[in-house]
Amino acid sequence: MIIENYSLKKLNTFGLDVKAAYFIDVKSLEYLEEQFELIRKKQFKYLVLGSGSNILFTKDYDGLVIKNSVQGIEIINETEKEIFIKTGGGVIWDNLVSFCIKNNYWGIENLSLIPGTAGAAPVQNIGAYGVELKDVFYSLDGIYLTDGKRKTFSKEESQFGYRSSIFKKELRNKFLITNVILRLSKLPAPKLNYRALREKFGSQEIKKISLSEIRSIVIEIRNGKLPNPAELGNAGSFYKNPVISNNVLKDLQKNFQDIVYFKIGDKYSKISAGWLIEKCGLKGFRDGYVGTYPKQALIIVNYGNATGKEIFEFSRMIQLKVKDKFGILLEPEVNIL
Ligand code: EPU
Repeated sequence: MIIENYSLKKLNTFGLDVKAAYFIDVKSLEYLEEQFELIRKKQFKYLVLGSGSNILFTKDYDGLVIKNSVQGIEIINETEKEIFIKTGGGVIWDNLVSFCIKNNYWGIENLSLIPGTAGAAPVQNIGAYGVELKDVFYSLDGIYLTDGKRKTFSKEESQFGYRSSIFKKELRNKFLITNVILRLSKLPAPKLNYRALREKFGSQEIKKISLSEIRSIVIEIRNGKLPNPAELGNAGSFYKNPVISNNVLKDLQKNFQDIVYFKIGDKYSKISAGWLIEKCGLKGFRDGYVGTYPKQALIIVNYGNATGKEIFEFSRMIQLKVKDKFGILLEPEVNIL
């Protein structure tokens, strides 16, 4: 059923009081197919929403918001070493992580507590603490909103990149992901390359570290640094960490010896956007109801009654300051509408 004038306040983690002109809650692929002709006839423009944890609404949405609520977690195949899990696009990501940990399936424990849904996870190739979704992704199924055709995407076809995929680019709002299939390990495979994570385990023998220990530590690290969207409106990292050539990095290092970066191959480095913002004196900076989070400058928070426009203007101010000081344009990671 299509509902008119629907409030999205609970459907965006910035907690913004915006409305969708039309709204539909999709609980199964079959239901979407049933409604498809009607949707197509009306020629709506679409926005596919999971739980709204990576979006900034600067105004009401004047098209159709399609909420992906497809549920279900099931095992579809397994070998001695591996397990293939099919999950509905509307499953809360962290419930899936918790399910895998309880059943001893390795691969997504470092991605504990990331807000959002399983269907949104491939869209921006979610990542944290040395793991990205693409590392465990097998395939996904969905439906083109343009012609109603079903399609399965392999890992290669999904074109994953840093916080990016074909679903965030060419297929943005053109394809609804109904199911995602992950390929996980039944044998222990801890990934402790991320320094903060490794340090927490000290001299503990890696082989003896359990899945639930990793989950607890990841949650501890996240809670120490990142605001809980249920308490303080935010959408995680607001910008991507910029990738620059090593030559540009060398030039920057002449003036900023302590710049935080991570080498990617021989030619490029990823710069910490949080560090850039902090060096502009903007960590914990607040203007009215909008500010950067005092423990992590890369996160913009809504301290209460900020509007989407105010948050957007604040984010532009940060971009300008960083550009002025370092010559680097920060690219938003959050979808701005
Ligand atoms: N740093 C600062 N000041 C800050 C923030 C960071 O100097 O205010 C420097 C510190 O040196 C710190 C380093 O940057 O050690 C890295 O910081 P952090 O571990 O918090 O990671 P990040 O690069 O800021 C990325 C992801 C996060 C993910 C963490 C952990 C992006 C855009 N963000 O943040 O993902 O949780 O790594 O893996 O890549 C998200 O995508 O929404 C998100 C939260």
